[in-house]
Amino acid sequence: MQFAGKVALVTGGTDGIGRQIALQLQALGADVLVTGRDKDRLARAGHEGMTAIEADLTGPAGVDAVMRGLAGRSIDVLINNAGMGTDHDFRVARPDVAGDERTLWLNVHAPIRLIVELMAMLQTRPEAMIVNVTSGLAIAPSAGNPVYCATKAALRSYTQSLRAQLKGSRIHVLEALPPLVDTAMTTRRTGRKLSAQECARQIIAAMRNDADEANVGMVRILKAVNQVAPWLARRIMIGF
Ligand SMILES: NC(=O)c1ccc[n+]([C@@H]2O[C@H](COP(=O)([O-])OP(=O)(O)OC[C@H]3O[C@@H](n4cnc5c(N)ncnc54)[C@H](OP(=O)(O)O)[C@@H]3O)[C@@H](O)[C@H]2O)c1
Repeated sequence: MQFAGKVALVTGGTDGIGRQIALQLQALGADVLVTGRDKDRLARAGHEGMTAIEADLTGPAGVDAVMRGLAGRSIDVLINNAGMGTDHDFRVARPDVAGDERTLWLNVHAPIRLIVELMAMLQTRPEAMIVNVTSGLAIAPSAGNPVYCATKAALRSYTQSLRAQLKGSRIHVLEALPPLVDTAMTTRRTGRKLSAQECARQIIAAMRNDADEANVGMVRILKAVNQVAPWLARRIMIGF
């Protein structure tokens, strides 16, 4: 896909990977709409020439807010990027079930609901794309974040089915699988982190090539290991 003249909606496009995707799409000539909750970050996106939509996507009201924010405008590209993870480790404490439910909503329900709400409109576009941002942890889970990993595996599975349903249509479906990336989400994590800018660059390169997947950074290696020895991929990732 070429982005000049296209309209792209990036959920969670005000910070981290989503912000870098939004900025790079804009630089390639796209008109960009972003969603988020923080008012200052939304205002910054507005000053940068993006349309900023305030929406908390941990519940159905957030999806309604996005639809209202679009105000009937057509989009060509939907990037379901907003995501979160909460602690869920019985070795440490009783998990916070309210946090788990927010995570499930933001990471799974919200992307699916946005796809459902926007599908009829996307089908009218000459060329359209749906990008779902999952994670390397969708391929094989870690022990420490079971709910987060489960949401990403669920979205990966949904994305694969959706791609099969839309095969031959004008809507391309891409899954982006980032590795550990240096963003607000990973401040407590140690280890080598890819920059959000480079992660976005690789995702956009995959979008330009109409690839099925953007296996970013080390995920490319994980994917290769998983293809030949899934048990080894699981063993590596479970301690991650
Ligand atoms: N960072 C990593 O290492 C990594 C690795 C693999 C996959 N991913 C995935 O990549 C995506 C982006 O992650 P990131 O690291 O860039 O995250 P981030 O830096 O925390 O940014 C998240 C973005 O989503 C928005 N957001 C957060 N909670 C939201 C909510 N409840 N409703 C609506 N928007 C919300 C944030 O804005 P507000 O806070 O203002 O709402 C922000 O714009 C996520 O799906 C994540 O799971 C990240």
